[in-house]
Amino acid sequence: MRIPLSRPYLNEDLKRGVLAVLDSGYWTEGPVTREFEGLCREHIGCGHALAVCNCSVGLELALRALGIGPGDEVIVPDYTYPVTAGAVNIVGATAVLADVERDTMLLDLDALEAAITPRTKAIMPVSLFGLPLAYDRLDALKNKHGLFVIEDAACAIGTGFRGRKTGNWADVSAFSFYPRKFIATGEGGLVTTNRPDWAEWMESYKHFGMQTQTTREDTVFGMVGTNYKLSNILAAVGCAQMRVIGELLVRRRAQAAYYVELLAGDDRIGIPRVVAGGEPSYQAFCVFVPDRDRVMREMRAGGIEVQVGSYALQMHPAFRPGPLCRHAGGLENSRWVYDHALALPLYHDLTQAEQDEVVRQLRAVLSQESRHGDRPAQ
Ligand SMILES: Cc1ncc(COP(=O)(O)O)c(C=O)c1O
Repeated sequence: MRIPLSRPYLNEDLKRGVLAVLDSGYWTEGPVTREFEGLCREHIGCGHALAVCNCSVGLELALRALGIGPGDEVIVPDYTYPVTAGAVNIVGATAVLADVERDTMLLDLDALEAAITPRTKAIMPVSLFGLPLAYDRLDALKNKHGLFVIEDAACAIGTGFRGRKTGNWADVSAFSFYPRKFIATGEGGLVTTNRPDWAEWMESYKHFGMQTQTTREDTVFGMVGTNYKLSNILAAVGCAQMRVIGELLVRRRAQAAYYVELLAGDDRIGIPRVVAGGEPSYQAFCVFVPDRDRVMREMRAGGIEVQVGSYALQMHPAFRPGPLCRHAGGLENSRWVYDHALALPLYHDLTQAEQDEVVRQLRAVLSQESRHGDRPAQ
């Protein structure tokens, strides 16, 4: 592709950091993982940050720490990556799919409230594409109904709301460092919380159930656990990016603002709304277009790598209604967002000239479409 969808960040500091770990021979989780956790904790401002091998197991870890299991319901947005609901099912609980708002693409808090039953234990909202949730409203609902909030913050490192970072709002938040994320380690994740007891339980569970204060000579396995560790090698990749996250965020917000400027005033193209007080990190930049699949095909044929936004889980056999999955309401907005959202190329060194070219091609493809009489997206 002439202009790829995404490209991870790379600099000399990153390469040096990885080589130093390779030379040290200390390849498993260790001091560099601790350093990465420290950098993340400092950036987010939370009490505890635990590195894990990906966000999917981070979500599972959070659910287990909060004692969620068979018989419990967890409400998730229908428009998300499948593992949001999958993690709920993996611990034996029922995922309740609730609708999203069309304009923000995020969990609709009215739909969420309507989906609550006596079995509801937790809400698992998703700050999709680095777009922050309205945490003030979410907190009010959490307190009113006495529920836990576990945030699927896979896309949201660097995101904030009214001066406080994602990862410091929910009871537990799980982040991803998959290559298309804002900070990428290849595979990797992070779980944050302000509760020391949950942090200690998760630390032990991800280390085979080892008690946290034991040494190698005096190891005690206090419970059954597993291995969700993040190696020093991958942590070194993350450290180099976390050291410059402030400047990366400034650049990314400028890129998003430039897309908005280029796209403004074209009523064939919808631009998602950011909640008032939101400080997005723009892990991805989506627009709403009519006949999305054709637009996607033709832009790709022209060398611009575009992609669908995320998924409407209702459309997938894994999430048919049954003992482990309930559909709360019609979920029409989620289906609409799935049909119209198109992710445009976005990465740290994307240039304005490349953005000009993406938008020029998008407009050209849409113009062919209007000649065929298609209707606008909104
Ligand atoms: C919303 C959401 N949740 C969870 C995940 C899973 O993250 P990981 O690949 O780190 O397990 C992703 C990954 O793309 C995601 O977008």
